[in-house]
Amino acid sequence: MADSIGEAEAANRLMRLARLIAHHDKLYHDQDAPEISDADYDALVRENRELEERFPQLVRPDSPSKRLGAAPTTALAKVAHARPMLSLENAFSEDEVNDFAARIRRFLNLPAEAFVAMTAEPKIDGLSCSVRYERGDLVLAATRGDGAVGEDVTPNVRTIADIPQHIANAPDVLEVRGEVYMSKADFEALNARQEASGGKIFANPRNAAAGSLRQKDASITAARPLRFLAHGWGEVSEPLADTQFEAMKRIESFGIPVSDLLVRCDDTAAMLAHYRAIEKARADLPFDIDGVVYKVDRLDLQERLGFVARAPRWGLAHKFPAEKAETTLEAIDIQVGRTGKLTPVGRLTPVGVGGVIVANVTLHNRDEIQRLGLRIGDRVRIQRAGDVIPQVVENLTRDEVREPYVFPDHCPECQSEAVAEEGEVDVRCTGGLICPAQRFERLRHFVSRGALDIEGLGEKSIAEFIELGWLHSPADIFRLRNHRGALIGLEGWKEKSVDNLLGSIEAKREPDGPRFLFGLGIRQIGIVTARDLLKCFGTVEELRRVAAHPDAQAEFAAVEGVGPVVAEALVDFFHEEHNREALDDLLSEVSPKPFVSDARQTEWTGKTIVFTGSLETMSRDEAKAQAERLGARAAGSVSAKTDLVVAGPGAGSKLKKAEELGIRVINEAEWAQIVADA
Ligand code: IVH
Repeated sequence: MADSIGEAEAANRLMRLARLIAHHDKLYHDQDAPEISDADYDALVRENRELEERFPQLVRPDSPSKRLGAAPTTALAKVAHARPMLSLENAFSEDEVNDFAARIRRFLNLPAEAFVAMTAEPKIDGLSCSVRYERGDLVLAATRGDGAVGEDVTPNVRTIADIPQHIANAPDVLEVRGEVYMSKADFEALNARQEASGGKIFANPRNAAAGSLRQKDASITAARPLRFLAHGWGEVSEPLADTQFEAMKRIESFGIPVSDLLVRCDDTAAMLAHYRAIEKARADLPFDIDGVVYKVDRLDLQERLGFVARAPRWGLAHKFPAEKAETTLEAIDIQVGRTGKLTPVGRLTPVGVGGVIVANVTLHNRDEIQRLGLRIGDRVRIQRAGDVIPQVVENLTRDEVREPYVFPDHCPECQSEAVAEEGEVDVRCTGGLICPAQRFERLRHFVSRGALDIEGLGEKSIAEFIELGWLHSPADIFRLRNHRGALIGLEGWKEKSVDNLLGSIEAKREPDGPRFLFGLGIRQIGIVTARDLLKCFGTVEELRRVAAHPDAQAEFAAVEGVGPVVAEALVDFFHEEHNREALDDLLSEVSPKPFVSDARQTEWTGKTIVFTGSLETMSRDEAKAQAERLGARAAGSVSAKTDLVVAGPGAGSKLKKAEELGIRVINEAEWAQIVADA
């Protein structure tokens, strides 16, 4: 590609590559959710490098070649590495390995027949971590980050059993570097648990390891089965040994795991033989690897060889080729994710790829199917890159005449309409409230802090109640009281905890309007937009009525703070009969408060009011909201700072205290008068 294009086209392509690579870096490093295989990513980086070599004048300030991975995210504290954490040059063929050996000989000015001994060991597909010991105590652990500055993951690393907290007879300063990883078996088990609890599903063990290590809350890391294998060191106060091999043995003697596939090779043939042996063992290894790493064994020679850019001259990563195979696409199934995204999955005639039988591939999205021109019955070339889900890389029968594949426009789970929003590739189900695939996520959102804020109804309980068949839609939450008896009998529930939960549900029968609207989980509608909408339309029922007008979209879009995208999302939501039914059902259980605009200045501004006893014409919550609208604060207990007590029948100790303190006490009717007059 780089050979055939002109300067203008190259500039354009470089701009797109910069964006694309930054996008994939972010997905990989920050979100632990890659969309493309490592091989495809490497191809983009290579294309970028080739273009920059041909057109050095076009190298951009934001060129991916100037960055190494993604800079660390802001969530964790940053730490500068005492010595930079470098990367490795990649090789994909035996020729490149021979070149590497020859380059080293030349650099060291050695005769052609001389051979520099090298170590060879698996390249573990995890994430680099540097663990620092001072006088034997673990004091700091950091991720690689951009190589110069990483993230402080000390508390997290302390939870990894492979990594000792203290090392006897270690040098005063010792930085051990290696890979934090998750075994394939632990990864499967973690994903199964995540699925059961509605948690995040990880694409591969590497992402699971990254997501588990880079947690602000180390107790999450502690619950994840992370492991560690050392492959080198950073700052050390005294040399560990004379050779790489002996130094690694020394690290092993400190009680830190080192690969048992680490060997010393006396010639290139031995290196390549070890590469093939590891490749053969790959499928049976308990963890993912993506190649073999060679390093010059003598440390004095490593020193002389030094570094080029970000990689040492003395090291090389010999990557395994992406494994490919040909087979037939038998069917395309659509899976609906927890957020409503429709993902096409290709069902294949099972085929062996690098020792693993592959029967399914991800087809990513509607555009990808179109790009490949895929139809049922096509012969396809698939690729398994070891670390990501297998994918189709080529359609081998594009030219044959066959029935085209039509991407569904309805959700296979709930039959609601499925649409792609303007400018988006993903097709999504619009049946949010009733789609079983989205049930858990929706319910969790509905009860969450920013929405109804139902205390005590956590993820675990939601998952449990769904499992029991008690929860289908948000309205069911308000019918959980019908299961009180059954619930008390369940493990982990006692009468008191059940009643606490049911009590906090009952307390939300008259939810705040904007929170209620936000809780419905309509796409594009956050709490601020929800408030803007209700400020204008007052109630969700009114919104729904307006949504039925032929010119609803324009009407919504005219609201301040609301644009066409939100307007369309609203209309789509109410257009769906399922959603209207689920909303009716919900409104038969709860009565959201109509929106009343913000507090005003009144004689009550800044005053403290306490409501006690039972109120007859309004709920306690409504009374409090009224007080807040007058600018007053509603407090739970009476003190010298209380300005007014509104007492209903049955008022007890608070009323007594108010009288003792000489605070003005009024009844509900008088309060209603104050509100009316204000
Ligand atoms: S040596 C200066 N050895 O691969 C050399 N790295 O592509 C530093 N990796 O950042 C690394 N297994 O995270 C080395 N046996 C191994 C490795 C290994 C995995 C990772 C490491 C490094 C990356 C470079």
